[in-house]
Amino acid sequence: MDHAATKPHEALAAHLDGKMQDVDALIRDRMASRHAPRIPEVTAHLVNAGGKRLRPMLTLAAADLCGYAGHYDVHLAATVEFIHTATLLHDDVVDESAQRRGRPTANLLFDNKSSVLTGDYLFARAFQLMVETGSLRVLDILANASATIAEGEVLQLTAARNLKTDEDIYLQVVRGKTAALFSAATEVGGVIAGADAHRIKALYDYGDALGVAFQIVDDLLDYQGDTKATGKNVGDDFRERKLTLPVIKAVAVGTPEERAFWSRTIEKGDQRDGDLDEALRLLHLHGALDATQQDALHWAGRARDQITALPAHPVREMLGDLADYVVARLR
Ligand code: IPE
Ligand code: IPE
Ligand code: MG
Ligand code: MG
Repeated sequence: MDHAATKPHEALAAHLDGKMQDVDALIRDRMASRHAPRIPEVTAHLVNAGGKRLRPMLTLAAADLCGYAGHYDVHLAATVEFIHTATLLHDDVVDESAQRRGRPTANLLFDNKSSVLTGDYLFARAFQLMVETGSLRVLDILANASATIAEGEVLQLTAARNLKTDEDIYLQVVRGKTAALFSAATEVGGVIAGADAHRIKALYDYGDALGVAFQIVDDLLDYQGDTKATGKNVGDDFRERKLTLPVIKAVAVGTPEERAFWSRTIEKGDQRDGDLDEALRLLHLHGALDATQQDALHWAGRARDQITALPAHPVREMLGDLADYVVARLR
C-alpha cells in the first residue's frame, strides 16, 4: 500500500475493510427499533453522515495486532461506536451545537428530547452487544469507560465558565470525556484476543495518550478549524464559554485588561459582536494556539512510544502513524 498517498486512518480502514463492513452492518442492524420510529430516524441521520469511525478501528486493530481470529471484535467495535454515538447525541444537547458531521445536529433537526432518549437507547444497545461476547472483563472495562465519560462531561460543566480552571483540571476533563473511550477501545481489543497483561497495558496507554492528543486537537480546531473539514461550527466552545487549553494558556499570561475580557465573555457570558475575533487575537498574541499544538504533539509522541512494547506488525506501524495523523489534521 502506498502510505504517502494515503492518510493513516485510511490505511488502517483499508487494512480492516472486511471487518469494518461487518461492523457497519451490525450497527445498522442494531440501531433500528420496531416500536419507536423516531429512533431509526435519529440514528440514521447521524450514522449515515459517516464520521471517521476511529474508535471501532482501534478495537479491530488492537485485536488484529494480538492475533485474534474470532468474530467478537466486530461486536466490541460496534459497541464502542454505539457508546460514541450516544455521547455525541447527548453532547450536542448539552453544548447546544447546531452542526455535526456536516449536517444539522439531531437536537436542531428533531429536538432535545429525541436526542437524549435516543442516546439512552443507543447506550442500552451497546450493553446488549457487549453481553453477547460473554466476557465479564470487557463488560467491566466498557461499563467503567461509560461512567468515566459521563463524569468527564459533568466535571466540564463546573470547570467551564470558571477562569480558575487550570491545565490539570482540563486534563482530567479530557481524560474522562474522550480518552476513556479511546483507551477502552484498544484495551478490549487486546482482552478479547487473550493478550498478556503487558500488551494490554501498552494498548491501554496508547489509547489514553491518543485520546488526549485527539481532544486537544479538537479544541484547537474549534478555534482555527475549517467547518468544511470538521463538519462542526467554529467558535462553539467560546460561545459555550468552555475553558479549553488554548484559553487556559492565554488567561494564565493575560494582562488585567485581558483578564477582564475573558471574565466578561467566558465567566459572565456577556458576548458581543467581534468578541470571537478578539479572543482569537489574544490566543495568537500569546502563542497559545502554538503552545497547545506542542502539547498535542507531546501526547501523540507518548502514544507512539507506548506501542513500541508491542510485537512488530503492519498494524502497529499504522497505529503509530495514526498518532501523527491526529495532530497533522491541523494542517
Ligand atoms: C467527536 O469525535 C467527539 C470528540 C471526542 C472530539 P470524532 O471527531 O471522532 O467524531 P466523528 O465520529 O468522526 O464524527
Ligand atoms: C466531546 O467533547 C466529548 C464527547 C462527545 C463525550 P466536545 O464537546 O469538544 O466534542 P465536539 O467538539 O462537540 O465534537
Ligand atoms: Mg460538543
Ligand atoms: Mg469540540
